[in-house]
Amino acid sequence: MRLGVCYYPEHWPEDWWADDARRMAEMGLTRVRIGEFAWSRIEPSLGRYDWAWLDRAVEVLHAAGLGIIMGTPTATPPKWLVDRMPDMIAYDADGRPRSFGSRRHYCFSHQGYRNEAARIVAAMADRYGDHPAVIAWQTDNEYGCHDSAVSYSPAARDAFRYWLAAKYGEIAVLNHAWGNVFWSMEYRSFAEIDLPNLTVTEANPAHWLDFRRFSSDQVAIFNRLQVEILRDASPGRDIVHNFMGFFTQFDHHAVGRDLDVASWDSYPLGFLEQFWFSEGEKQAYLHQGHPDIAAFHHDLYRGCQREGRWWVMEQQPGPVNWACFNPAPLPGMVRLWTLEAMAHGAELVSYFRWRQAPFAQEQMHAGLLRPDRVDDRGAHEARQAAADIKVIGAVGPPPRSVALLFDYQSDWVTDIQPQGKGFSALRAAFEYYSALRQLGLDVDIVAPDADLSGYAMVVIPCLPILPDGLVDRLQGFAGPVLIGPRSGSKTADFAIPSDLPPGGLQALLPIKVVRVESLRDGVVLDGDGFAVHRWMETVEGEVEPEIKLKDGCGILFRHGALRYLAAWPDAALLKQILTGLADEASMEVQHLPEGVRLRRAGKMRFAVNYASETVQLVNAPGRNFVLGDAVLPPAGVAVWRED
Ligand code: GAL
Repeated sequence: MRLGVCYYPEHWPEDWWADDARRMAEMGLTRVRIGEFAWSRIEPSLGRYDWAWLDRAVEVLHAAGLGIIMGTPTATPPKWLVDRMPDMIAYDADGRPRSFGSRRHYCFSHQGYRNEAARIVAAMADRYGDHPAVIAWQTDNEYGCHDSAVSYSPAARDAFRYWLAAKYGEIAVLNHAWGNVFWSMEYRSFAEIDLPNLTVTEANPAHWLDFRRFSSDQVAIFNRLQVEILRDASPGRDIVHNFMGFFTQFDHHAVGRDLDVASWDSYPLGFLEQFWFSEGEKQAYLHQGHPDIAAFHHDLYRGCQREGRWWVMEQQPGPVNWACFNPAPLPGMVRLWTLEAMAHGAELVSYFRWRQAPFAQEQMHAGLLRPDRVDDRGAHEARQAAADIKVIGAVGPPPRSVALLFDYQSDWVTDIQPQGKGFSALRAAFEYYSALRQLGLDVDIVAPDADLSGYAMVVIPCLPILPDGLVDRLQGFAGPVLIGPRSGSKTADFAIPSDLPPGGLQALLPIKVVRVESLRDGVVLDGDGFAVHRWMETVEGEVEPEIKLKDGCGILFRHGALRYLAAWPDAALLKQILTGLADEASMEVQHLPEGVRLRRAGKMRFAVNYASETVQLVNAPGRNFVLGDAVLPPAGVAVWRED
């Protein structure tokens, strides 16, 4: 695995560049990402390109032996462009245009902006496409960041109407599919259909779902436009995009199909603060991040590229600036995050950013270096990680063990119609993933159309709309399968299936979900040594429940190797059920100490400690340690060979 860094030569005096490049190489970094926000310097006014500074920056980095990942600058269209084409601006859900003065202000659907994006990408590819230092291209930067994947602009509305007309052909078909007879919402033509925001009360969920599918398609189209230009003009270079954490506004499997490498931006402390974690978890892992945040995304994005190639494009090196609170990583965590990515099969970990910028929006965001050019803690840990990577040597491919199926559309469905606060398919995926990892199991998070052969078990936390062919694939799968609540609960048109949920899954498991209820925070339904909360289903059918609540209600139903869970489980129940499945699949589970996670990579096994206390790895003496040993301090990493 290689290390790299995100660098902005345009932010610094030119006479610092050579020293920066030398220090990068000396630190053990071999890759550097540049360019992704530099449009105003590359093209200060329409058609007037200034390549000279960037040419010199490329030469300086090249001379230090660094391979360059060149970013296309389309996330930051400059002021002159917005002034020439004001209607390229994205609109927020309240119908207001988003202003110039930060970034990501463009609308994906605007054809004029697409043309401009294609023009600047082609110009960059023409200039640097066959430069020997350029080893990869990053398209744009973090599609969807700052809530920008979905736009409610006039351009989006017009494009949505075309999209609907292409999908349905005739307006009567759309009216029927959406159920527009309800509340007299019937349309006479596609030209009458507005975007689903700004309605008096909620818009039709089918309208929303098509708008989410449309918006996702716009991102994929925008990305593909860049990919095609780059492939043509810069053959042999990897094309990559940097995805975000806990972000589902577009179908990353669809975008990933066009990429050579999927990458993501890993900010474990910021994500812990910003997402659904309990107060207890936020306190316990304040300086480490929840032990499954980074790994969940590693395993998710590995599944977003057809060959499983993935990078961490931005790795948090210290405190960030954008969460509600921004603590510093525990000493050792930057190294731990780096080596953990290696355990999950990353080809590259690149830190964001080289040096903290003393100006503008991110002046409170740490870099590897302080603004005074002195090494910050992140730099020391990157250097250590580079040495550790050498010691560990090559690691083998990740094993095929548990397949956890996640579909972006599922999260759109639960977002559009949560039916109870906090119900999210993404959150369900995370909680099932976390339970599997606490049992020491290795997980691949796979796309809905993934090949399941070779896996020992399949876990489907929440899949309201069943993808074509899945029922057949599950039928042909020999190992145990767990399917969570709300799976099979909607048709592709966002209606309840005529034979009731779980819809098509009834071919595998003869049950019907006849009622669902959501439960407010704090309400729990007790079982023997576990509880369920948030969501409870009433199931009818011939199948005797395998697990019941204390009041006798069945919650786990089994038919052959397939089980359906009819409630939102707590961690104890999940672990109980998954242990049973693992047993059936002859997989060994381990009840790991709080905060400890294991991961196999070929013949190597990694252990990481996210806890604030030292832990002793059980059964460890005598192991063939390559790095560390059986005593794992906080932020500790151990690696051993299993022959
Ligand atoms: C990412 C983004 C970077 C920078 C970073 C700060 O979301 O790609 O440009 O803003 O966050 O943490």
